Parts: sequence; structure tokens; C-alpha cells
Amino acid sequence: MKRRTLLQWPALAAAGQAIAQSAPLTRPIPATGKPIPRVGLGTWITFNVGQDPPARAHCAQVIQAFLDEGGRLIDSSPMYGSSQGVVGDALRSLAARHRVFAADKVWTSGDGAAQVETSRSLWQVPRFDLLQVHNLLAWEKQLPLLQRMKERGSVRYVGITTSEGRRHREFERIMREHKLDFVQLTYNLFDREAEERLLPLAAERGIAVLVNRPFQEGDLLRRLQRHPLPAWAAEIGCGSWAQFALKFVIGHPAVTCAIPATRRVEHVRENMATARAPLPDDAMRQRMAAHVARL
Ligand SMILES: NC(=O)c1ccc[n+]([C@@H]2O[C@H](COP(=O)([O-])OP(=O)(O)OC[C@H]3O[C@@H](n4cnc5c(N)ncnc54)[C@H](OP(=O)(O)O)[C@@H]3O)[C@@H](O)[C@H]2O)c1
Repeated sequence: MKRRTLLQWPALAAAGQAIAQSAPLTRPIPATGKPIPRVGLGTWITFNVGQDPPARAHCAQVIQAFLDEGGRLIDSSPMYGSSQGVVGDALRSLAARHRVFAADKVWTSGDGAAQVETSRSLWQVPRFDLLQVHNLLAWEKQLPLLQRMKERGSVRYVGITTSEGRRHREFERIMREHKLDFVQLTYNLFDREAEERLLPLAAERGIAVLVNRPFQEGDLLRRLQRHPLPAWAAEIGCGSWAQFALKFVIGHPAVTCAIPATRRVEHVRENMATARAPLPDDAMRQRMAAHVARL
């Protein structure tokens, strides 16, 4: 429908505007150029709620809100207890399997293919979009397995993960010597080690970057919330410390998508709202980091 036609129908025009406003900013996955929203959803701890029906229904509401806000990438692992099944049941109940970018991990020194198949059946998806070797566990064995799966078309992208600075030297070597589509690592306002080598290397090698622990499992926010949010945070659309911390992460040019975890519908909405303009430029990001370093 042409814009002029839309303007003749105020309700339609408003709906169009709402859709335009609700679409989150995306970044292309370097391997394919396909866009992915800059904020995703983690599942560690938050979705490990066992079999309790009300708790699982609540997780489904969080996923519903995430999808309503235009979110796509959900990250899980066989290490996260019941989280994979919680995600799978939620996606089935919401009839939303086709809307997600399903990112999972292989986390075993044993039979990786069997583990991936168990994970896939818990997610109830035909295949994963991304499979990552979790914390480099048995990566010499599991990365070739994932590469073979990719060649066969049973996964779209492969990668490796680390967190909190663990094994960065080895991580860097794998990034240099192997063909990877994604890496996942920790990067946040209080843990900026990845800025030195891993993020520039990812940009140089055309590897997408997922950022885990953007809030240090909530510790970072508890620390910041003792202080007032600076008034100038409004210049980049931040109304809370969570948005300030997340905009800092996704504003880095090498970061493809951050994956905060939450149990709360209002927090998932708040987090998704950060994936909207304006994002901080380099000068603003320096200002943000300098400000929190002084607190
Ligand atoms: N090696 C690896 O591969 C690896 C390691 C660690 C993590 N990960 C992945 O990365 C994901 C994220 O990391 P994480 O789970 O360690 O922690 P995180 O995302 O840094 O922090 C999660 C905590 O932040 C709070 N939170 C979220 N949004 C908030 C908001 N808007 N306002 C206030 N509080 C908010 C949550 O509490 P509420 O529930 O109250 O919102 C939760 O306690 C994991 O879930 C997992 O998928 C991967």
C-alpha cells in the first residue's frame, strides 16, 4: 500500500508506524549477510525451572514478549538443566518454531551427535540454526562434527563459546586457524578484555559475535543501581542502567547480538527496546565506560 493511501486511513498509518518502531535494529551475520536482531535471549538459570507447570508457563510468557518485540535468537545448552525443554514447549505452545533463530551447544567429550539429537528433540525444531562448542569442551572432536553437520545441511552455522575470559588464548588460536561462523564470549562494561584481541579478530575474520553475560548475571546491575543514571543517558535512549549496559555492548562495531537472560516480561521488553536507535558511537561508548569506572 502506498504511503499516500496509508495517510488517508489514520488507523492503518498508526499501525504501520507501530510496526516500523517495533522492528529492532539488526546486524548482518558476516557468513551469509542475513540480518539478526541485535538483542537475543539467554536461558541459563532463568529457564531452568524444572517441570513446574506455572513456572514453565511464565517462561513461555517471557518468550512470547521477546518474540512480540521482534526478538529472534534464543541461546541454550544441554548444560542448562530443563531450559531446552522449556524453550521447546513454549515455542510449540506459541506456534513460533519458525520465528526463532535456534542457537544451542554441544557440551560433552562423548557422543556429540547423540547429544545434539537429544537437544533438537527437546527444542522440537527440525534443525538448529547455530551449534556452538560450549566452553571449548573437546573442541578438537566436536568442531569437526559440527562442520560435517553443516556440510550436510543439518545446521546452518557453527561456532565456539567461552565466558568470563576463560581460555582466551586458545580461543583466539581456534579463531585464527578454523572456519567459524560465530563466536560467543563475555563482554560488558566491567569486563572489557575481549576489546583487545577477540573482537578485532572477529571483525577481521568475518565472524559473528554473540555476547553472553552482558549484566554479569545481574551483579553488574546491582552495582550500578546504587548510583543515579546520568542525565545524558537519555541522549542515547537509555531509561535504566540495564539499557545503558546493553547499549554499550551492542554499540561495539564487532558485536552482532547480545543475549541477556531474564525471568521477567517487563525486563525482556526493556532489553529489546535497547535494540533501537540511537546506539552509542565510539566517543559515547568511551564516555559510558569512563563514567562507570569512576563510580
Ligand atoms: N560459556 C557459555 O557459553 C555461556 C556462559 C554464560 C552465559 N551464556 C549465555 O549467556 C546468557 C546470558 O548470561 P547470564 O545468564 O550469565 O546473565 P546476564 O544476562 O548477564 O544477567 C542475567 C540477570 O540479569 C537480570 N536482568 C536481565 N534483564 C534485566 C533488566 N532489564 N533489568 C534488571 N535486571 C535484568 C536478570 O534478572 P531478572 O530475571 O530479574 O530479569 C538475571 O538475573 C545465558 O543465559 C546463556 O544463554 C553462555
